[in-house]
Amino acid sequence: MSLTIRPVVGRRAKITALGTYVPPDVITNKDLEKLVDTNDQWIMERTGIKERHVLAKGLGVSDICVHAANKCLAARGGISGPMPASEIECIIVGTVTPDMMFPSTACLVQDRIGAKGAWGFDVSGGCSGFVYALQAGVKMVESGAHRKVLVIGADANTRMTDYTDRTTCVLFGDGGGAVLIEPAEEGEIGFIDFVHEIDGSGGVSLNLKGGGSLNPPTHETINKKMHFIYQDGPAVYKFAVRKMAEATAKLLERNGVTGADLGCFIPHQANKRIITATADRLGMDPERVIINIEKYGNTSAGTIPLAMETAIEEGKLKKGDLVLLAAVGAGFTVGAALLRWEI
Ligand SMILES: CC(C)(COP(=O)(O)OP(=O)(O)OC[C@H]1O[C@@H](n2cnc3c(N)ncnc32)[C@H](O)[C@@H]1OP(=O)(O)O)[C@@H](O)C(=O)NCCC(=O)NCCS
Repeated sequence: MSLTIRPVVGRRAKITALGTYVPPDVITNKDLEKLVDTNDQWIMERTGIKERHVLAKGLGVSDICVHAANKCLAARGGISGPMPASEIECIIVGTVTPDMMFPSTACLVQDRIGAKGAWGFDVSGGCSGFVYALQAGVKMVESGAHRKVLVIGADANTRMTDYTDRTTCVLFGDGGGAVLIEPAEEGEIGFIDFVHEIDGSGGVSLNLKGGGSLNPPTHETINKKMHFIYQDGPAVYKFAVRKMAEATAKLLERNGVTGADLGCFIPHQANKRIITATADRLGMDPERVIINIEKYGNTSAGTIPLAMETAIEEGKLKKGDLVLLAAVGAGFTVGAALLRWEI
């Protein structure tokens, strides 16, 4: 390895804590067999998904964010209790399933966790939302603008899912996670580099058309099912396989790193076949590729923090490891990050 550490304008930034949350209710493939013409074998073979968590009625994505944020603050705390939320200076939430059009999820979370004095905003990056929010938070810390930024990736996709459409309803689940970004200590590296890209021509292949200013809710938009996720699965699949490989290869190459140097690869969990195709191109040992799609399905911006948790639980993410994150999502959006894990 000939890792070239890119200089930053101010100080380096790192993740100092992680907290994740999935709601307790679960829909299994067997449950879906009762709703649409599908079966466990097809879903497992084509996607790798066995079950997914579902947010209970009466709750919104902000509930997932609040649970994750509080767990993150507890992880950052010590024997005297969680880190006080009042120390957070900015909250950035990657989500495309906010509780409502406005106020932003960041505002709802700020109030509920008691982050008095913080500011914040939401990032609409589809499944790349967490990696996009992460770069914004990292740059705030690197520039010296802030010392404690809470970055959350969460989605409640099942709320926007048509449970009569077998091509989409098997894919999505609800959940997410939060990380705290703070200045790195002397000798630590933390975040190294990001590669991000958008390609708006892909918007036709994955979208939710109803409810915005172009198509506000009417009986007609509801009858036309415009408030559900629309997806051209094969088109998204092809783009995802190509772009995950391109973005990750570019990021590793320009930093003098190969797949063999990575402690682990934490990809967005949309389809197990997309993940293994990307990992193959990187020459990664499958043992070091984090896959938890079987338990959670695609939670959009929630997948990467949830997979970080899985990596830690499985003993595959340890202090000092080089870690690669990558996602592709609605937009199309592409995002990848390279960092050294410093917890
Ligand atoms: C959705 C996806 C799993 C479909 O897998 P696929 O191998 O491309 O399957 P196809 O869409 O070509 O469909 C193959 C057949 O299975 C059928 N099928 C689709 N969903 C099915 C289901 N849940 N159960 C059983 N059969 C199903 C199709 O109707 C089609 O039947 P036909 O050949 O008779 O027309 C896959 O395209 C995918 O994962 N795409 C990317 C999704 C994604 O990443 N989305 C989020 C972006 S971040």
